[in-house]
Parts: sequence; structure tokens; C-alpha cells
Amino acid sequence: MRSLFAAFALLVAVVALSLPSCKHDPMYTIIDPQDTTTTPPIDTGVNAGIPCSPDTVYFQNQVLPLLISQCAKSGCHDAASHEDGVVLTNYQQVMSTGKVKAFKPNDSELYEAIMETDPDDRMPQAPNAPLTAEQKNLIRKWIEQGAQNNVCNENYGNCDTDNVTYTNFVSGLLANKCVGCHGGVNPQGGLKLSTYAEVKATAQNGALYGAVAHQPGYSAMPKGGAALSPCFVNKIKAWIDAGTPQ
Ligand code: HEC
Repeated sequence: MRSLFAAFALLVAVVALSLPSCKHDPMYTIIDPQDTTTTPPIDTGVNAGIPCSPDTVYFQNQVLPLLISQCAKSGCHDAASHEDGVVLTNYQQVMSTGKVKAFKPNDSELYEAIMETDPDDRMPQAPNAPLTAEQKNLIRKWIEQGAQNNVCNENYGNCDTDNVTYTNFVSGLLANKCVGCHGGVNPQGGLKLSTYAEVKATAQNGALYGAVAHQPGYSAMPKGGAALSPCFVNKIKAWIDAGTPQ
């Protein structure tokens, strides 16, 4: 009995010691920012997570894919290249090395860099194109809303694979998650995906679906980012099966 009590007391002590110290993490953090290894699921099932609100900018859905394709390319701000010590591949690194100050875009170096007008200082650096006004606004709004590590389910309640076209779905998806690497003067892997003709050709030779569905024999895309949701992969498949309508 006594040894049982001793064992219990030891257990309590060990648990108490291993609890994290009372650290005041910012209240807006939904996903553990220290966790740099797991990427939260964007929409593993149609009823998982929360539906996206049109008024909110979501880091995992909108901001991170943009940073990965526009900034975390090889030679720039991926973990291996880390130009100027800046790594933009996950929330924690974006906040610390991108010097993002929640609610204060104008005090955030990441935002200053994309707004810079001098092409030598601007990010992404020439010959890459600057971000579009829409992309800059997205990042500004995300910081103004508190630079949260938030995520929503883009297909909440419904995965609609009917009538998928290049214009109503595919081009927007690729612009956010792929074209930063697969566009411009020096596309990664020698592959451009910025026009309908380029995407159609890549769809028809099987590489588009193979890459996003992580099929054997293809490089898994988006490189360095979270896999597309099963719904988005199904929508791409439906679009290809329907003859890649524009
Ligand atoms: C961070 C840069 C980056 C992003 C983002 C990215 N790619 Fe790629 N992609 C590459 C590189 C580099 C290659 C060349 C193969 C390799 O190195 O894995 C490639 C290769 C490919 C290929 C050829 C694959 C093969 O095995 O033949 C396809 C198709 C492709 N990407 C599609 C996409 C799509 C679709 C997206 C968005 C959902 C995307 N990529 C996002 C960098 C990227």
C-alpha cells in the first residue's frame, strides 16, 4: 500500500514538472505555433473543421500557400536556402523571421518587403513579378485581423464536382498555390501553369493529376506545402474527365 502511494506521489510530481510553465501565448493562436512539423488538415472531410467566412483571411488556406509558392522557392526562403535568415514555410517561421507584428502591417517587415517600390529591395525580387494588389491586400488583411494561425474548410458541407471549369475553379486554385513557382521567367521544374493552354497540356499528359494526387512516378505538389484537400483533388479530376472546359 505504501509503495503504491509512493508511486502515485512520484507520478504526480513528474506530471506537475512536465507541465509547461505559465506562458502567455497570444490569445489569437488557434493552432500551436511551436508545432512546425504537422500541417493542420485543411478539409479532410466535408463536415470537418469550420466553414470559411468570406470576411476572414485564413493563414493555412490562403496566406501560407501564397508564401510557399511566391517566397519559399528553392534559392529564396525555403528551409534550405533561408536567404537573410528568413524562412517562410510555416506559421512560426513566418511570424519570427518575417517579423510579422499582429494587427500592425506597417510595422511588419514581411509586409514592408512586398510593398517596397524599389525593385532591388522588393519581395519577391526581380525578375519575379511583384505580388498582385489582391495578394498584397490579402496579407495586409491577415495581419490586421491579428495574424492568426487559422484554418477553415473550403468545402464545408459540400464537395461540388459538377461543372468545374478553368475559370470558375482551376485558375484560382493554381494562382494561389502553384503559379508563384510555375510562372514567370524562370518556372520551377521548367513547367509553366499560368495560362489555360499550359494547364490544359499538363492536365492532358497526366502530370497535373499525378502531381496533386501524389501518384507514384510524379513529384508531389504543391512542393513544400500541404497536399490539396481530397475535395480539390476530386474537382481537378472531374475537370480533366470533363475534357478540361475553359
Ligand atoms: C515551392 C515551389 C513549387 C510549388 C508551390 C509547386 N511546384 Fe510543382 N514543381 C516544382 C518543382 C521544383 C518541380 C520539379 C520537380 C521537383 O523538383 O520535384 C515541380 C514539378 C511539377 C510538375 C511535374 C511533376 C512530374 O513529376 O512530372 C507538376 C505537374 C507540377 N509541379 C504541378 C504543380 C501544381 C499543380 C502545383 C500547385 C498545386 C505546384 N506544382 C506547386 C515546384 C513547385
